Amino acid sequence: MNIVGLQSVTYGAEDVEAATRFQEDWGLELVEIGTTGSDFKLPDDTSVHIRRIDDDSLPPSSVPGSTAREVIWGAADKDTLEAIGAELSKDREVTVDSEGGLHSYDDLGYRIGFSVTTRAIKPLDFPDSNTVGNAARIDERADVFARGPVKQKRMFHAVYWAPGDTAAAAGFYLNRLGFKLTESLLGKNFFMRCGSSNDHHNLFFENGGNNFGFQHVAYEVRDSDEVLKCGTHMEEQGWQTQLGPGRHYFGSGWFWYFLNPAGGLIETGFDSDFISADWEPLHHDSIPPEAARPWMVRREEIGKPVAEGDWPQLIDGNVLPARS
Ligand SMILES: [Fe+2]
Repeated sequence: MNIVGLQSVTYGAEDVEAATRFQEDWGLELVEIGTTGSDFKLPDDTSVHIRRIDDDSLPPSSVPGSTAREVIWGAADKDTLEAIGAELSKDREVTVDSEGGLHSYDDLGYRIGFSVTTRAIKPLDFPDSNTVGNAARIDERADVFARGPVKQKRMFHAVYWAPGDTAAAAGFYLNRLGFKLTESLLGKNFFMRCGSSNDHHNLFFENGGNNFGFQHVAYEVRDSDEVLKCGTHMEEQGWQTQLGPGRHYFGSGWFWYFLNPAGGLIETGFDSDFISADWEPLHHDSIPPEAARPWMVRREEIGKPVAEGDWPQLIDGNVLPARS
């Protein structure tokens, strides 16, 4: 299956006004706002939609409260879309919207959809930088000072809690939708990328005991300056850091997470691994020491870390069945 990546995410939010203001502060372009919610787009023509939590047009929720209600994956072409529809129709309901998009659910009951992608990534130049004994920027101030507010450039992965038999839940994407496994950890955490993607992961299933629900969507900005500039701006606007800034071991990317009033967490990052067709999946039987304690600004001293149990979208012990 030639799936290219995330196409859109739709949230059902308890406080649409706050959720809308948050996405604007985050650096998404507001294209429409009305009584039913707000719509945002990214430079690569993907989109984010905020709706009231009780909006009848939304798919049913996996968990109570504000959360992502549906993630739409971009199919490379119409043939791919038809193949997805044929595959999923074997064992579950697939509905078709007025624009030909497909809507269904995965093996954990999370609502997913598919449409022919309009995504067109606009490559960026990496800013000239100087390092020890090697200057690429001469007689010039760093260009970050000439840039305006940070704009998120693209979404590149979604993460869900995946309790129980996580390998089976991941297998739905790997065996039926053409996703590829990049790395697995402890046999129960799976970093997966779309069939025609070079991202380290576009979908991560994390086994956190009984934790269930949508966890976060990650965005990419131009460089590390923009990760730090975005996070600083968000804190100045009163939004709450969940973790970071820091750098992941898995995927190598910079990160900074915030609590998203639209639901779950949100991450911005930069410099993630590029995975080629030559990559062989890695399986880690233990947590690599470099992964156990990556470099990260420790918030205990300077901020208010958020305990995992306080994440708003999580429910212990409630694994809801797939819904038709
Ligand atoms: Fe992430």
